[in-house]
Amino acid sequence: MTHYVPAGASPDDVWLITGCSSGFGKALATALLAKGQRVAATARNITALDYLGPESPQLLKLPLDVTNRAEVNAAFLVARKQFGRVDVVVNNAGIGVIGPVEDMTEAQIRQQFEVNVFGVFNVTRAAQPLFREQQRGLFVNFASMAGEVSVPSLGVYSASKFAVEGLSEAVRQEMEPYGVGVIVVEPGPFDTEWIGNNAVWAEETERYPGVWGYVTQMKAAYADRKIVGDPAKAAAAILKAAAMEPPPFRLALHEVSAEATRGKFKSVIADLDRTEGLTKDVHYAD
Ligand SMILES: NC(=O)c1ccc[n+]([C@@H]2O[C@H](COP(=O)([O-])OP(=O)(O)OC[C@H]3O[C@@H](n4cnc5c(N)ncnc54)[C@H](OP(=O)(O)O)[C@@H]3O)[C@@H](O)[C@H]2O)c1
Repeated sequence: MTHYVPAGASPDDVWLITGCSSGFGKALATALLAKGQRVAATARNITALDYLGPESPQLLKLPLDVTNRAEVNAAFLVARKQFGRVDVVVNNAGIGVIGPVEDMTEAQIRQQFEVNVFGVFNVTRAAQPLFREQQRGLFVNFASMAGEVSVPSLGVYSASKFAVEGLSEAVRQEMEPYGVGVIVVEPGPFDTEWIGNNAVWAEETERYPGVWGYVTQMKAAYADRKIVGDPAKAAAAILKAAAMEPPPFRLALHEVSAEATRGKFKSVIADLDRTEGLTKDVHYAD
């Protein structure tokens, strides 16, 4: 009898990754190709994938803006045509819209959700029929430590990552009967373009000096090689987690992320304990 190997654990798996031009996407595509896996590497502009070398039977480069449903659907069709299947989908593409909630423009808030939330819905919903048909698949969804805990300046970003957590919890339960798993990756600070070239900033005003002070500290942490994490190490950890049987549902990367989440759950439980009387006293008297 052949041993059933879940998606993510097999060297024959085909991976499709969004946002491979830099950061975690680039690190993951590089690590997977080095291991000999087949990869559909996607980017808004595929010239940004030149670092991967030419296309080959192992590598497909596809244009994919996650906000463009036609492009998303086309990417799955082409990947399936080349490889016959897609086993692991990495919802990695994302941007950080940073600044005090009050000082964001509506366009910035919508842009945050278009990429980080509607983009994930687009890619996930395009993969679901294929995963159901294959009775096998794995989603690796990039949330963030900000998907567990919010901080000043990341209210909009965090809201988008809480959304990724929420949709991932449901998709995991909905697709479990089809042999499909989900891993939610929750990185802390890593050395990518997230707070660099790709960040979208609110206009700085005098209104929230504390928030901008927090941003200054955050930028300093990201600039410090002793603090900031290495995306190549993150990629290695994700590949190990994907190969676990069964894979973990959440994967905190960086101790700052793990500690923040532990602290959050302590405070959630403290509030539940403190308000237990109020929680229960809500039923009709008769
Ligand atoms: N770095 C961190 O500290 C950190 C922490 C927690 C979570 N994350 C999450 O990690 C994921 C990857 O980000 P990163 O840190 O690697 O930052 P990054 O270096 O800025 O990479 C982000 C990637 O997303 C792509 N992207 C942006 N908008 C897109 C769109 N509409 N369609 C397709 N691709 C798009 C970018 O491509 P272009 O070159 O085309 O813009 C880029 O390849 C994101 O979801 C981010 O929120 C990062």
